[in-house]
Amino acid sequence: MIEPIDPVRFIGNRSSGQQGFALAEAAVGAGARVTLISGPVTLPDPPGASVVRVETARQMLEAARAALPADVFVSAAAVADWRVEAVSGQKLKKGARGAPVLSLVENPDILAQIAATSATRPRLVVGFAAETENVVENAKRKLSRKGCDLIVANSVAEGSGTFGGAENEVHIVTASGAESWPRMSKPEVARKLIELVAARLGSAQ
Ligand code: CTP
Repeated sequence: MIEPIDPVRFIGNRSSGQQGFALAEAAVGAGARVTLISGPVTLPDPPGASVVRVETARQMLEAARAALPADVFVSAAAVADWRVEAVSGQKLKKGARGAPVLSLVENPDILAQIAATSATRPRLVVGFAAETENVVENAKRKLSRKGCDLIVANSVAEGSGTFGGAENEVHIVTASGAESWPRMSKPEVARKLIELVAARLGSAQ
């Protein structure tokens, strides 16, 4: 059990959660029983999914483990790689000591841990890759480093409009190669991805 954290300030990123929520909705639409584990975003619960709201990477890992067993695990969250080592119990005030130096420690890699071979590994583990350069090359490395079956790679470079935007342009990377999809809305990406997941599950039976 991880202690609740309710800081005045925190480190975050610009991810809106739209792609993950669209995936949950598409999976519900395809007839799946869905648990959506979400970080702090402002989107409403998608109808039909069981929603678990968390605030930290460690809480997300705990919730993901608690949701197993599952046939499929899709890791669309833009999880913080680092967290502040010591969360201050008080607001950090400006003062004579100048800018604070924050010491960071690495967060658990949720995708890699869920994909690690064990009795509870979902049959299909799908990761995302947010890259600002060499998108497909970096995603290929992530596929093997994290031990997942498929990576949905997208550019989050300046001007890509991915974080917070309504559309996404993705590359589907598997051990056998990469396929680029045209730019489309995030719900369309979600529907196509769930179709692909269903087809892969079907062919693996
Ligand atoms: N991810 C995760 N836990 C983390 C960080 C990332 O589960 N602590 C997952 C994301 O949900 C995504 C995949 O790992 O499915 C890749 O995330 P990304 O941010 O692209 O890569 P990083 O693991 O942060 O690696 P790097 O910083 O080298 O790009």
